[in-house]
Amino acid sequence: MEHKKLASFPKDFLWGSASAAYQVEGAWQEDGKGVSVWDEFVRIPGKTFKATNGDMAVDHYHRYKEDIALMKEQGLKTYRFSVAWTRIFPNGRGEVNQKGLEFYHDLIDELIKNDIEPMLTLYHWDLPQALQDEYGGWESRKIIDDFTNYATTLFEAFRGKVHYWVSLNEQNVFTSLGYMLAAHPPGVQDPKRMYAVNHIAFLANATVINKFHEMNMPGKIGPSFAYTPNYSIDSNPKNVLAAEDAEDLMANYWMDVYMWGKYPIAARNYLLEQGWAPEIEEGDQELLESAKPDFLGINYYQTATNMFNPLDGVGMGKMNTTGKKGTSEESGIPGMYKKVDNPFVNRTNWDWEIDPEGLRIGLRRITSRYRIPVMITENGLGEYDKLTENNEIHDEYRIEYLSNHVHAIREAISDGATVLGYCTWSYTDLLSWLNGYQKRYGFVYVDQDENQDGSLARYKKDSYYWYQKVIQENGENS
Ligand code: BG6
Repeated sequence: MEHKKLASFPKDFLWGSASAAYQVEGAWQEDGKGVSVWDEFVRIPGKTFKATNGDMAVDHYHRYKEDIALMKEQGLKTYRFSVAWTRIFPNGRGEVNQKGLEFYHDLIDELIKNDIEPMLTLYHWDLPQALQDEYGGWESRKIIDDFTNYATTLFEAFRGKVHYWVSLNEQNVFTSLGYMLAAHPPGVQDPKRMYAVNHIAFLANATVINKFHEMNMPGKIGPSFAYTPNYSIDSNPKNVLAAEDAEDLMANYWMDVYMWGKYPIAARNYLLEQGWAPEIEEGDQELLESAKPDFLGINYYQTATNMFNPLDGVGMGKMNTTGKKGTSEESGIPGMYKKVDNPFVNRTNWDWEIDPEGLRIGLRRITSRYRIPVMITENGLGEYDKLTENNEIHDEYRIEYLSNHVHAIREAISDGATVLGYCTWSYTDLLSWLNGYQKRYGFVYVDQDENQDGSLARYKKDSYYWYQKVIQENGENS
């Protein structure tokens, strides 16, 4: 529908940018903070690129005022950040660590003072190690109470100040990488445990959303899902079915439960057949169906193109975490699908497919299937950036990436999608969990590297100025 007249972005559209505690804060042992599973995992040899960790990250804990001043100057309407559970409850539960809570009070007050709407993520992967040790973290239903208690503490503390809340960030990613690929903590490779963990995470998510509504919290809450829309490589019905299977097992499996409280039928039957299906106890179904998110958060980076994968075909392959183009291994589920290169799109140096149109497609699928407002909670390009002698960063590739995605959102809005806001990933450069500091995403360059001996100075990239203008014009020329 190329000829279509484009709608304008809504007047109150939330132009934003995002981060996560472990990736920016540093100060890992300060002011009474407890140890998280990531604090421990990064110390296992071979787990992260050049053994990088977030001990110091980009020192946002001490430099948040400087970072917020840059946001203000850019005109940001919202800033999405996550709270480190271990700062609030060093051991996951018990007494509140007041110093930890104070940090987020200060951060939130500073944002409000600068007319930036805080968007708070409750969980962006840094589970208290104490809960992992005590009962296996997400593998035990005990986490539901602990997570709800932690969330309730934040609801009470920031009631009326924070209006946008993200419950779980990318449950599909932290469970798949944690329990299927052993690439995230706790480093397990076991599909049955992976689906069991997901069921418990769904219950925890539903409980917290219900709690938010029971407390009549002013504002909105929803989960953020890492959505990779699936395509078929061609019109061979075998491949089309493979793409349907991928969409059911890799996308609907999460989104249907968030939105409807129901597992997709074909995927559930497949898991039952494999002996991997989670146990659904009495009351679970009612709980899942009772929770109604106010929006669906979407983290969009790419699409996946699929073809049929025979029973003796490829299994899970390794990701490219080195930034050497073309080094990701083939990956798929035998008997179902495998991911193949899409001949119509380009790829980043980390082999992520660049497909702005896929965002429009994804937004339309969500709109038709769930009729729910969407908050784009992440979208961005991880690339090498070069600091010139004059401390400039000419990241025209990032401007191209982001402007094409902003345009795709505008098209989706014209198609009828309700989009509340757009948070780029990320605001400053930060630690990429497995890829170190060389894979940069920010509008603001941070002088930090894998040896952690950078000056931590902040420099505005060309994309910073580009986004400033987009916000000023409310996307009118996008
Ligand atoms: C999302 C996460 O998966 O993608 C972020 O929510 C993450 O925390 C981002 O950093 C980009 O991924 P990566 O692997 O390039 O850092």
